[in-house]
Amino acid sequence: MRIAIGSDHRGYQIRPRIVEWLRERGHDVIDVGSHSHEPVDYPDIADVVATKVSQREVDRGILLCGTGLGMCIAANKVRGVRAVPCHDDLTAEMSRRHNDANVLCLSADLLGERLLFRVLDIWLNTPFEGGRHARRVEKIQAIEEEIARELCSKDKPNPMANGSKG
Ligand code: RB5
Repeated sequence: MRIAIGSDHRGYQIRPRIVEWLRERGHDVIDVGSHSHEPVDYPDIADVVATKVSQREVDRGILLCGTGLGMCIAANKVRGVRAVPCHDDLTAEMSRRHNDANVLCLSADLLGERLLFRVLDIWLNTPFEGGRHARRVEKIQAIEEEIARELCSKDKPNPMANGSKG
């Protein structure tokens, strides 16, 4: 699987270990940083990873911050991204089976190492169930399409503006 991974300063210590773990299992990994203790704003990293997922440069994304929550909020602003904060076996499994989640957001501060790798393993290896869940995911996409259409229609010049009769 092609995977992009990124973290802010809270996740920067554990991230290289996750990269190694993924590569040992044959995944093709793009590590976007951050590479130091220096504070970095999590939306900047979320944007890079989420955009790679959105543009299908990779199959999945993994993001780490203190709680996993800020990364998740930011990543979900990118079109086509279904980011989830998982913190146990069940959330990891169900986010794949029912929601076809394509970005996993992990808490670097709150998850113990064993649990973190177990969540990762389950999330990477659980398939999407499809069926009625595919219809629901399509409805999520329809909401995105509607928002995009509204934005486009606001950009179009209004022919009736400024008293024009044309
Ligand atoms: C950074 O201090 C922290 O806010 C960030 O890592 C993350 O937990 C945000 O949701």
